Amino acid sequence: MIKPFKAGITGTGSMLPDKKLTNFQLESIVETSDEWIVKRTGIRERRIIDDSMPLAELAAGASNRAIADAGIAADDIDLIIATTITPDYLSPSLACQVQKLIGAGKAAAFDMNAACTGFIYALQISRQFIENGTYKNILIVSAEALSRIVDFTDRRTCVLFGDGAGAVVLGRVDDGTGISSAILGACGEDGSVLTIPCFYATEEDLALRNEGKKQVIWMDGSEVFTFASKIMSESTKNVLDDSGISINDIKYIFPHQANMRILQNAAKRLDVPMDKVYTNLEYTGNISSASVPVCLDEAAKKGLLKKGDKLILVAFGGGLTYGAALLTWSK
Ligand code: ACO
Repeated sequence: MIKPFKAGITGTGSMLPDKKLTNFQLESIVETSDEWIVKRTGIRERRIIDDSMPLAELAAGASNRAIADAGIAADDIDLIIATTITPDYLSPSLACQVQKLIGAGKAAAFDMNAACTGFIYALQISRQFIENGTYKNILIVSAEALSRIVDFTDRRTCVLFGDGAGAVVLGRVDDGTGISSAILGACGEDGSVLTIPCFYATEEDLALRNEGKKQVIWMDGSEVFTFASKIMSESTKNVLDDSGISINDIKYIFPHQANMRILQNAAKRLDVPMDKVYTNLEYTGNISSASVPVCLDEAAKKGLLKKGDKLILVAFGGGLTYGAALLTWSK
């Protein structure tokens, strides 16, 4: 099928809460140590949203920055997709809240949940609308307040997660740039290894949690670790094969930031040096779907990305879900 337009990122933005929670501070909350957390995860600190701040405000901050970076007005946005597993409300959606806060009155808006893979899913969905000419400018905003669903008595999870928001504007870009290939996938059969109940939960699932707490994350860390290491390298290889290019043509890989050992393991399987793998988890922890767009914005603002650079974006997460995209930088 002939696609009239190419879709690519025309603007990036991010916003992290000011408050830091260091490993040393966690030592006084649960039985853990800075040494254990750094050695097993690579994380030193994470950002925590204030109790009084709605996630929508953080998401709107990142969105405004992405829109300014794209050189357009909020009124030019045709569609807003917000990806989150921690919305302030199920209704109105985070996307509708953002629409109101940024004044994007002409945009359609909805939320999407593919856990940590949310941004890649949103990218692939949005890409269709740009390529077929339905929309000109789409705002994807990935925002998470994971500190609100972490059990701070469970040391197996509370040391891993943080809060933050990343946004991109997807629009029409020059030929030879933009998204050229993307894959999405899910393994629903293995979904029980990472759960966050909402209105219903099985007795078995609740029994796994400290004091049977309901709306908190529970995770079988080693199962997720094994899945993640394998699927990150496989997904990357699949998009490369799809596009007929080699890993040597890639400037940077932007992976979901869950654990430094997962990233090292995936890099080893792909036979790429770690300096091609962009990381920021040392200072952010795992911010779920926000992690890839926050990394992209950081790298762009540092001047690391030049027009024509080939990038892999790759993520995995609850569901279980996974996805990867090959993107040629357009700015
Ligand atoms: N501090 C100190 N000790 C700890 C801590 C802690 N914070 N957490 C666990 N331990 C202990 C365990 O109790 C265990 O002790 P034991 O041997 O006496 O039982 C020991 O450390 C080893 O535990 P493991 O679970 O085997 O540790 P591992 O090296 O596997 O690391 C971790 C655990 C960091 C959770 C790892 O498995 C991991 O990163 N998994 C992937 C998580 C992930 O990526 N999730 C992302 C998806 S998130 C999303 O989509 C929302």
